[in-house]
Amino acid sequence: MADRIIVTGGAGYIGSHVCVDLLSAGKSLLIIDDFSNSSPEAVRRIQELAEGDIRLLKSDLADPAQRERIIDAARDFRAQGAIHLAGLKAVGESVTEPERYYRVNLGSALTLIDALKATGGKLIVFSSSATVYGDRNKSPVDETGLLGPTNPYGRTKYFIEEMLRDLHVSDPGWKIANLRYFNPVGAHPSGRIGEDPNGVPNNLFPYIAQVAVGRREKLRVFGDDYDTRDGTGVRDFIHVCDLARGHRAALDHLAREKAPGVVDVNLGTGLGYSVLEAVAAFKRASNRDIPYEIAPRREGDIAEIYANPSKAKALLGWTAEKSLDDMCADHWRWQRENPTGYGE
Ligand code: WQD
Repeated sequence: MADRIIVTGGAGYIGSHVCVDLLSAGKSLLIIDDFSNSSPEAVRRIQELAEGDIRLLKSDLADPAQRERIIDAARDFRAQGAIHLAGLKAVGESVTEPERYYRVNLGSALTLIDALKATGGKLIVFSSSATVYGDRNKSPVDETGLLGPTNPYGRTKYFIEEMLRDLHVSDPGWKIANLRYFNPVGAHPSGRIGEDPNGVPNNLFPYIAQVAVGRREKLRVFGDDYDTRDGTGVRDFIHVCDLARGHRAALDHLAREKAPGVVDVNLGTGLGYSVLEAVAAFKRASNRDIPYEIAPRREGDIAEIYANPSKAKALLGWTAEKSLDDMCADHWRWQRENPTGYGE
């Protein structure tokens, strides 16, 4: 069993839910986070939700000046593996600042590899994305789908997957899971941790939630002339707590199997819901009006993508359990009880 785990980006939206899940399962954690898009308050609340042993290292994995410190901390912690979530993740920003995306995302992954080499813990669960599939596949997409990300953010995910594959070739002792997330939404049912985006949200759910709570006037629905049920985009929304559980399942799988090598696994529900269906569900859950207007298509969007999640079930014994209504109810509770997120 791998019980001493580094979680990079552990204070972030997905990371905080992963930490609560792992602590509840009795793992000890070393969180490495620079708080560039997260808050120390999230770590406090992780500790409030789950007992257990947490160390925190405030460090930027992409900063060469902090590399030795990070390696020392991993060695001191005697890490047996890592869940790697740290990185930049805004698609639009990655188009205007590609070098920053490559430097930070690839550099962080390399530092983590060095840190694990120092401890001998050759096990990585990587936060990849369905974005690696690009726009070339018919849904449901399985893991043999054609790869072709369409922006620098997506390419950093793709390149890191490939880098980890090469690492395994160089030393078959390395065990790797590339988890390809579909659209993570929702929040912990306690309402204590959730997504706290900087500035104007890019993604659908945080935007809807801010409209529902009165922070923004109305949602813009990007396109109603796609070839889908109601003309709006269709996505595979997955509850962040189901997603978190998927990381633990992957970790346990890697630790258990003698020679699993590199596995690529979709984490999705297998169900596609349209933007307007998501708006209607959120309206029901919040009992608030969600004004919207139809706007032009957003550049780079595709009509429809949802997962074939069978491999996760067969390999990891994992399936998503929470419904769209659960996702909306939990996302709304978090938004209502923390209207400005974690605050200053
Ligand atoms: C979903 C649908 C929009 C906002 C992106 C990244 C992906 C991943 C998750 C990130 C689309 C529509 C959205 C709005 C809208 N990575 N929409 N009005 O684009 O599927 O995936 O986020 O970390 O890599 O590409 O998610 O939530 O942005 O959009 O109508 O204000 O909602 O057009 O159809 P997407 P999303």
